[in-house]
Amino acid sequence: MSENPSPNASSNTVARERATGVQLPTDQELVLKVIPMPGDCNANGDIFGGWVMAQVDLAGAVVPARYAGGRMATVAVNQFVFKHPVRVGDILSFFAKLTRIGRTSITVKIEVFAERFGSQAEYTKVTEASLTYVAIDDNGHPREVPNKLI
Ligand SMILES: CC(C)(COP(=O)(O)OP(=O)(O)OC[C@H]1O[C@@H](n2cnc3c(N)ncnc32)[C@H](O)[C@@H]1OP(=O)(O)O)[C@@H](O)C(=O)NCCC(=O)NCCS
Repeated sequence: MSENPSPNASSNTVARERATGVQLPTDQELVLKVIPMPGDCNANGDIFGGWVMAQVDLAGAVVPARYAGGRMATVAVNQFVFKHPVRVGDILSFFAKLTRIGRTSITVKIEVFAERFGSQAEYTKVTEASLTYVAIDDNGHPREVPNKLI
């Protein structure tokens, strides 16, 4: 979930990211923007992976909520890749896209892009994930997704 720092790590990393020219997705919806704080760090000084996962779970629920029409629960993290570390002060943008609607479940893909501190408008894809949410009734049991044709 993190990389060990080396003497020239930060300047090398910034140079590499500028060279990538990463573009934000145009076929996905921006569902969350957030800036991690020092209290969200792990022992290496990067942002704790569990914090990133929590934000992805929150962001991932935005699109499914429109279809579920009520309570829902996260049933599965199908895929989760930490491609690059997240750092204090990064501006994180979470993009989501519906990938599947089942009888009671909704699956979304989430991509997270970081604008490094002091390097706004230059993006690094730091995380990619797929999560499945289930529409649930008042007793916590699965119920049919009511809005499949939005
Ligand atoms: C979500 C929950 C109600 C589902 O109950 P369940 O008895 O497992 O339900 P089912 O087996 O009928 O599956 C319900 C749907 O989830 C899908 N599902 C179940 N397990 C899955 C998995 N491991 N991966 C992907 N989808 C899964 C099923 O395919 C089904 O979708 P479909 O109806 O669209 O085909 C139950 O597992 C639960 O309460 N889990 C805890 C949820 C939680 O606490 N989440 C964290 C906080 S939100």
